[in-house]
Amino acid sequence: MEVVILKDAREVGRAAAAAFAATLRRKPDAVLGLATGSSPLPVYDELARLHAEEGLDFSKASGFALDEYVGLPEDHPESYASVIRRDFASRVNIDQAKVHSPDGRAEDLEAACAAYEAAIEAAGGVDIQILGIGTDGHIGFNEPASSLASRTRIKTLLEQTRKDNARFFDSIDEVPHHVLTQGVGTIMQARHVVLVATGATKAEAVHGLVEGPVTAMCVASVLQFHPRATIIVDEAAASSL
Ligand code: GLP
Repeated sequence: MEVVILKDAREVGRAAAAAFAATLRRKPDAVLGLATGSSPLPVYDELARLHAEEGLDFSKASGFALDEYVGLPEDHPESYASVIRRDFASRVNIDQAKVHSPDGRAEDLEAACAAYEAAIEAAGGVDIQILGIGTDGHIGFNEPASSLASRTRIKTLLEQTRKDNARFFDSIDEVPHHVLTQGVGTIMQARHVVLVATGATKAEAVHGLVEGPVTAMCVASVLQFHPRATIIVDEAAASSL
């Protein structure tokens, strides 16, 4: 595990985007693992800039989102499919038909999860995965006590996560209780994982991730076992290391 500590969110975004750009230049048809939340936003800003100003080409790339709420219409502004489209896909020249999310509207959610796993495998697996981290150490929506070998499945959100995410909705009552998320085992198969965290609210989770024992109570700590994990944090998020 490589830990990189930088001054602020902008520098963190630039460093993570540089890793994505290097992968794309080496492998133009790379499979990109995409994440939502505020942490990856500076990464997407920098990728959009690299596309506009330096011609970074996404035309042969594809993407897979980590997770999706259950029950939100696909075009709801806060569905993760919409968020990924708005924050990333619409700003670069990626083929939007090749940007996938778990189907949180499916009648048979278990079948949708199995189909998502199969689609990632058929694409050849994720080459580079961007990750944020929840205040409780979750990655994707793998809440504490998730199986570290889990695959894409339905999860129930903890109250804290619903509270953390309520800022994106008009009220907490609108935050769905259930989600589909890539499993921890799924995420661990990405060839390169780049986790970004910024701000003091993430300091405890980053401590658990980097220095804690590997435990399902801080799911991100499993990245200590990943053969190529790059953890890029700002000084505030690194303050408990
Ligand atoms: C959600 C997402 C995670 C994300 C987390 C933290 O729970 N499912 O992928 O890492 O929020 O979000 P933020 O970066 O906004 O703090």
